[in-house]
Amino acid sequence: MAEPIHIPVILQECLALLGPRPGDTVVDCTAGRGGHAEALAGAIGPDGTLVLIDLDAGNLETARRHVESKHPDGPQVHAVHGSFGLVHRHLEDLDLRADVVLADLGFSSTQMDDPERGMSFRQDAPLDMRFDTSKGPTAAQILESSSEDELEEMIRDFGEEPLARRIAQKVVRARDEKPIEMTGQLTQLVREAYGRRAATARMDPATRTFMALRIAVNDELVALDALLAAIVYGAEARTSVGWLNQGARIGIISFHSLEDRPVKRAFADLTRRMLATHLTKGPLRASPEEERANRRSRSAKLRVVELT
Ligand SMILES: C[S@@+](CC[C@H](N)C(=O)[O-])C[C@H]1O[C@@H](n2cnc3c(N)ncnc32)[C@H](O)[C@@H]1O
Repeated sequence: MAEPIHIPVILQECLALLGPRPGDTVVDCTAGRGGHAEALAGAIGPDGTLVLIDLDAGNLETARRHVESKHPDGPQVHAVHGSFGLVHRHLEDLDLRADVVLADLGFSSTQMDDPERGMSFRQDAPLDMRFDTSKGPTAAQILESSSEDELEEMIRDFGEEPLARRIAQKVVRARDEKPIEMTGQLTQLVREAYGRRAATARMDPATRTFMALRIAVNDELVALDALLAAIVYGAEARTSVGWLNQGARIGIISFHSLEDRPVKRAFADLTRRMLATHLTKGPLRASPEEERANRRSRSAKLRVVELT
């Protein structure tokens, strides 16, 4: 049976700006289904080295298989099951230094569409939401163990949801009756919190709450901060130890402002300190053709820097 697919976003622009060359060491921090990785592997060829990182063991294995089947005589591939927040450690363990680094943040379409993962409010499923199903609390456990204030803060800060307080109250009242274990239960509670506003809302009322919960379950913003700190550390250390080669190009694709803001700030700081130069003036967006062909690309923003 054919594997479910995830279409890589802004792919050609990534390749052009990251400029992978034969023999380079490339790190794909978010291997996903291997779309970007496969293209990068083709560019670095048999003398190159490709490090694939993903929190999702299934995605990581799919990416590795995809790359190796497309490029049987291609680069040496290392697959690392872990967080990109520790990318410097992973590279140090492998005794490698990177020439090109890519992070395509968030989730793959296959994770969102898989009912087992409980990331989508479009199908009723257990509230799990973890990228790495081997550890950490599930979404249901977070809903069970957080105080009302913590829930409100999470839904407001990670979902930018104006009705966070009402939704948190609904969750706490409902869980006193019965644990909230299914996506359908949470969707219903959010709809009740919205009341008549649900009919006129621009997006499904559950969108922001589900996004907030997914970000919290996977510590997404903490991991991104750790990745950015690792990049700064690598940029500062590149002439001695460190995990980034001089001239390394680093690209990050974000999908919402909570991701893009820290990337923008960290890259601006690197350029201000003359540790890097911008290869993208502002954020680079998908072309109108790509936006038409792939809905997900509409919110994608790519920023790329080159270490000096
Ligand atoms: C948008 S998808 C990447 C898609 C990939 N570029 C492709 O072309 O198939 C994002 C991936 O990042 C992974 N991920 C999310 N947070 C992570 C983290 N902190 N460390 C490593 N992988 C992470 C997810 O499991 C998912 O597979």
